Amino acid sequence: MLNRDTIRYWLEETDPARLTQLWHQADTIRRTHVGSDVHLRALLEISNECRRHCHYCGLNVTNRTVIRYTLSADMILHLVSLIDSLGFGTVVLQSGEHPALDRDTVAKLIERIKSTTNLAITLSLGERNKEDYRTWKASGADRYLLKFETSNTELYKRVHPATGNDWNNRLEILDFLKDAGYEVGSGFMIGLPGQSYSDIANDIMLCRTLSLDMIAAGPYIPHPATLLGSEGNHTFGDPGQVPASVLMTLKTVALLRLCCPDTNIPATSALSVLDASDGRESGLECGANVFMPDITPMPYRKWYEIYPGKIITDTSLPDLKDIRNALEGIGRTLGKGPGISVHFQKQHAQQIAQ
Ligand code: 5AD
Repeated sequence: MLNRDTIRYWLEETDPARLTQLWHQADTIRRTHVGSDVHLRALLEISNECRRHCHYCGLNVTNRTVIRYTLSADMILHLVSLIDSLGFGTVVLQSGEHPALDRDTVAKLIERIKSTTNLAITLSLGERNKEDYRTWKASGADRYLLKFETSNTELYKRVHPATGNDWNNRLEILDFLKDAGYEVGSGFMIGLPGQSYSDIANDIMLCRTLSLDMIAAGPYIPHPATLLGSEGNHTFGDPGQVPASVLMTLKTVALLRLCCPDTNIPATSALSVLDASDGRESGLECGANVFMPDITPMPYRKWYEIYPGKIITDTSLPDLKDIRNALEGIGRTLGKGPGISVHFQKQHAQQIAQ
């Protein structure tokens, strides 16, 4: 099993021949543990309203240049039925932390989606209270995504200034979600100003300790309308600054696969932003087994600008045939059904046997 030092060593590796070995190992472990299926998650960005001040995120509450929106329940249900008819197995409902998306509103939405489609529902609505999470699970939600962003608590505090050091809240919530029966996803950003190689090694180790069902690790992309992204703030001066590069992301994905063999790991959208032509395929060939096409309609997709450079070219919905062909081109198959993580299935098999 990889330890912290070995992980760190690999993160700093630059020799192409050695790296080819890493990609190969990760790809082999991926094939053995989760097979050749790639699971799609249809991402629906239901609101870009957010009460938080995160210094890296373009949707932070102080950014007055954002055109804010919240999709109506009718529009969400219409889009969800399209997603279902296109052949997706999962919808991800994502938004900023928006008080108007209250417990009952979201619960009703979940119930209506569950009664009209066969879709698995992933929620990504930020930090909420426990009663919200409990209610949504009872309404039929299957999964919850909440990234811990960085395992370095000092760095976490620096980039979430107005909320203080609530890193522990996130970890407590992740525990709670697991106990509540959700499939739990988390993850972190790569290349935040002030983030070191040791930090990324710790992030990977933390993912293993948390025993997650899904892990997303994507590059940090500076947004000009944020404090971190504005000029002069690209680094806190740490000489061991980890780059927010494609290569660093691929190394991280590969190491995550080696450390957490049966977990769902997406090729993140942020990776595709850094490398529009090959990012997705490269991620899938270095350990990833999931990706999340954005099906938010225009102009909302453009207004959900967490980071700049989102792929906005195509306003229509993705064609699963095209995706299937692209996957077959790299020797992979399109997953059918909800794509429950093997990790979650195994944990539950153990619980049932106990
Ligand atoms: N670059 C990359 N990822 C970002 N996120 C937010 N801002 C950025 C950025 N500038 C990610 C965070 C957060 C999610 C909403 O998007 O991981 O959890």
